[in-house]
Amino acid sequence: MAKAAYTIALANLKGGCGKTTISTNLSAALAARGSVGLVDADPQGALRHWVDWQHTDPNDARLPKLYAEHADPLENLKSAQPQHDFVVADCPPSLDIAVTQRMLEFCDFVLVPVLPSPLDLWASAQTIEVINQARAKNPKLRAALVLNQTEPKSAMTRAMTQAIAKLNTPVLATSVRRRAAYRNAVVEGVSVFQLGNRGREAANEINQILIEVVPK
Ligand SMILES: Nc1ncnc2c1ncn2[C@@H]1O[C@H](COP(=O)(O)OP(=O)(O)O)[C@@H](O)[C@H]1O
Ligand SMILES: [Mg+2]
Repeated sequence: MAKAAYTIALANLKGGCGKTTISTNLSAALAARGSVGLVDADPQGALRHWVDWQHTDPNDARLPKLYAEHADPLENLKSAQPQHDFVVADCPPSLDIAVTQRMLEFCDFVLVPVLPSPLDLWASAQTIEVINQARAKNPKLRAALVLNQTEPKSAMTRAMTQAIAKLNTPVLATSVRRRAAYRNAVVEGVSVFQLGNRGREAANEINQILIEVVPK
């Protein structure tokens, strides 16, 4: 029977905010709960490199399976959804604004990673606009910001609080700290879950994000 995969998109029209980092690690966390399809909608194809680096059997059902056979990422999303319990989609930067919007019309949750600075928060307004457009066609779509690359002592400044209020979008209680584990995992072709002690704190925060994002 076809499954109706719970589909999580990582979207921000700005590059470098953590879409791919969070996609890889969330998909690894989800793989402990069910089968996972990964859709790389970014033409730079970072997920493809990550999957290639794993040197594992691509048919191993315990690992996220990459869907990349079609040039159109929406086709890849639609191929993945009937096959899996969960699908994670890494959305492209601003060049492909229409691609992001169409993808979001078929997702359950969109997470918007943002760096903890007012500039980055202001720059996310366009992404929120795209999400709102997608919602007009897909009312079930839920959205949240997730702060990425936070530092232990970095407080929310007033400018940040104001910028967040203007976006009118919830922020996950869990934020993703800046950690070497995230950078190391991706170049080793693994997730933070495979780094043992080196990745333990990162793995805990990714699991916390899942609790906030995936319905029980
Ligand atoms: N929480 C984090 N801690 C440390 N480095 C991070 C973290 N999140 C992202 N990075 C690094 O920041 C850069 C941009 O992240 P990436 O996930 O590629 O962003 P995007 O996919 O949005 O362009 C990469 O070099 C990545 O390794
Ligand atoms: Mg990326």
